[in-house]
Amino acid sequence: MKTAITDMFGIEHPIIQGGMHYVGFAEMASAVSNAGGLGIITALTLGTPEKLANEIARCKDMTDRPFGVNLTFLPTVNAPDYPGLVKAIIDGGVKAVETAGNNPQQVLPYLKDAGISVIHKCTSVRHALKAQSIGCDAVSVDGFECGGHPGEDDIPNMILLPRAADELEIPFVSSGGMADGRSLVASLAMGAQGMNMGTRFIATKEAPVHENVKQAIVAASELDTRLVMRPLRNTERVMTNAAVEEVLRIEREKGADLQFEDIVEQVAGVYPRIMTEGDMDAGAWSCGMVAGLIHDIPTCKELVDRIMSEADAILARMNSLASA
Ligand SMILES: Cc1cc2nc3c(=O)[nH]c(=O)nc-3n(C[C@H](O)[C@H](O)[C@H](O)COP(=O)(O)O)c2cc1C
Repeated sequence: MKTAITDMFGIEHPIIQGGMHYVGFAEMASAVSNAGGLGIITALTLGTPEKLANEIARCKDMTDRPFGVNLTFLPTVNAPDYPGLVKAIIDGGVKAVETAGNNPQQVLPYLKDAGISVIHKCTSVRHALKAQSIGCDAVSVDGFECGGHPGEDDIPNMILLPRAADELEIPFVSSGGMADGRSLVASLAMGAQGMNMGTRFIATKEAPVHENVKQAIVAASELDTRLVMRPLRNTERVMTNAAVEEVLRIEREKGADLQFEDIVEQVAGVYPRIMTEGDMDAGAWSCGMVAGLIHDIPTCKELVDRIMSEADAILARMNSLASA
């Protein structure tokens, strides 16, 4: 399948793996890229420019296909060395960057000068238009269903994607709630040129996370995610567990007086214990409602091939409906 997104990133299939904290290592990114999609390394998980440079080099050893790096801009007191991370990306010869969080305007000129295609992930049409106006090449439109940070507008993809299609001139991919061939065809029908998946890619053989995480996703239904940190206007969709229910209890108790410090134990620095050690109650970890559509742990290639053949079958069926 050829779309503006496959052309832009030089990939075979219009499928992107979104940056994921403590998941987006070279093993994940290379497996997705080798399957014909665009795999993405998550820069902030590596933390320093040296470690990111090393991860990019490892990924290049594992695939000769294009892959990208996610740069997430967080409102934080101790900001990471963003200029150093950008330099590591450019020096590493990476040709695709997924930006997310705050406006990427400050790093954009450096990335563009290096010939890097930038896809900005955003949760609203106004942010997508902003990304377009500052020169991003594409956007990833992340609906309310998504794992991670859905923003504060709560617009699901059935509305958000056609709205984006009506307003945007640059190509966009759908993101949030995407799992299979149905997701891909629906995304294309609503004007996207491809789709981005997070949670679905965690439940794959190559995802470098503890087996407990994969099993938790397979066992979960669409009812098992919760929204935390809404009172802080930093809403995150996470898998429910003991720590998350405690966060929600504290949020109810504190009401409008909630401070980040009240829940820091459950939400900060917990990813290594969950993703690496498999301690599934250690804290809040991002997970999408799409868990309800995930029932197996295939290889990335099996998953991507299955999505593409399902999409082909659906398109053929629709075509015969249209000509009937
Ligand atoms: C465990 C996990 C960690 C994530 N970490 C990040 C991150 O560090 N930066 C980012 O931009 N998005 C992050 N995301 C969001 C994904 O890139 C993607 O936008 C989202 O998962 C799409 O929704 P889906 O899970 O329904 O496919 C994360 C998602 C998950 C599930």
